[in-house]
Amino acid sequence: MTRILGIETSCDETSAAIIDDITGTPVLRSLVILSQDIHRVFGGVVPEIASRAHLTAIVPVVRESLSQADSTFDQLDAVAVTTEPGLVGALMVGLNYAKGLSLALGIPLVAVHHMEGHLFATSLDEPDAEPPFTALLVSGGHTLLLDVPAWGAYKLLGSTRDDAAGEAYDKVAKLLGLPYPGGRHVEALAREGDPARFRFSRPMLKRNTAVGDPSYFDVSFSGLKTAVLNAVRGSDNIDRDRADIARGFQDALVETLVEKTARATTLYQRDKVVLGGGVACNRALADAIRRRMEADVRVYAPTPRLATDNAAMIARAGLFRYYHGERASLEQAAHAAAPLPGQA
Ligand code: KG4
Ligand code: ZN
Repeated sequence: MTRILGIETSCDETSAAIIDDITGTPVLRSLVILSQDIHRVFGGVVPEIASRAHLTAIVPVVRESLSQADSTFDQLDAVAVTTEPGLVGALMVGLNYAKGLSLALGIPLVAVHHMEGHLFATSLDEPDAEPPFTALLVSGGHTLLLDVPAWGAYKLLGSTRDDAAGEAYDKVAKLLGLPYPGGRHVEALAREGDPARFRFSRPMLKRNTAVGDPSYFDVSFSGLKTAVLNAVRGSDNIDRDRADIARGFQDALVETLVEKTARATTLYQRDKVVLGGGVACNRALADAIRRRMEADVRVYAPTPRLATDNAAMIARAGLFRYYHGERASLEQAAHAAAPLPGQA
């Protein structure tokens, strides 16, 4: 049996998790997530505050994950930690803690790319969510459309030209006077909105419609955000219009993501779609993808706990890297931005 501890501190969640791999089946033994609520007051993540909060939380969060898994430190075989991408000061807290643990226990340190973690998250709940598949990763910082023939082989098909999907949700939430992070609030409001009142344009679907066009798979949400801003400014009764604007925004964003994902499954002839990242919590998105796909395509969406930032996905991706013999040294650095390992 292999027991791996995962640590995640790339943004505003301090998280630790333990996975046991018994006979090739990874079993999640514990998952502790401490969300830093303080950033709500500021309407966005304040990096310095995030780093300090990770520092206070990291020791008790790891202890709690061990205790929930009924494990001691010396039963760990490896420690996996997010090293990129993310806020460097925040990443450094988890990374330095993991280095200390690796040194003290004499166990391997494994570096994990945060987005590869998101890619593995769904498979913890749904063992069938494994390659080959089309992946749509939609988080607060990234929007990636990938073809995944095998774990570790990632073909980047498209990404965002400007705002990430979650970022667009958060900015629109702010425009509509909703709390941060706004994704789930916009989704709840949109459910009550009239889809016929605000129809925002979908420029990324009108141009680049042939395979090989430069933006065939890319998305862009900054124009949509401006359209929402104009709708809010133009409204003479925002209380009446708020839900309808939210609905118009969500319909435009979802339709764009759905069409791009459908293009990828068709071109690469995949029969599975795996969603990941915080925006994958959005039911309207997952349902629209299911409706749009051919009957023989299965769509896997993570449960909310595994969709948003968590260490279980880091432990799972770390286990994969560990089996591949990957070991990080004590010189390992943290990076704000980095392509996925094995990205083509
Ligand atoms: O993956 P994640 O937890 O953190 C990053 O790695 O960025 O994603 C957070 C993002 C936020 O922008 C949040 O507003 C969005 O996910 N989000 C949602 C929903 N739940 C969270 N967006 C749309 N609908 C939701 N239900
Ligand atoms: Zn994330």
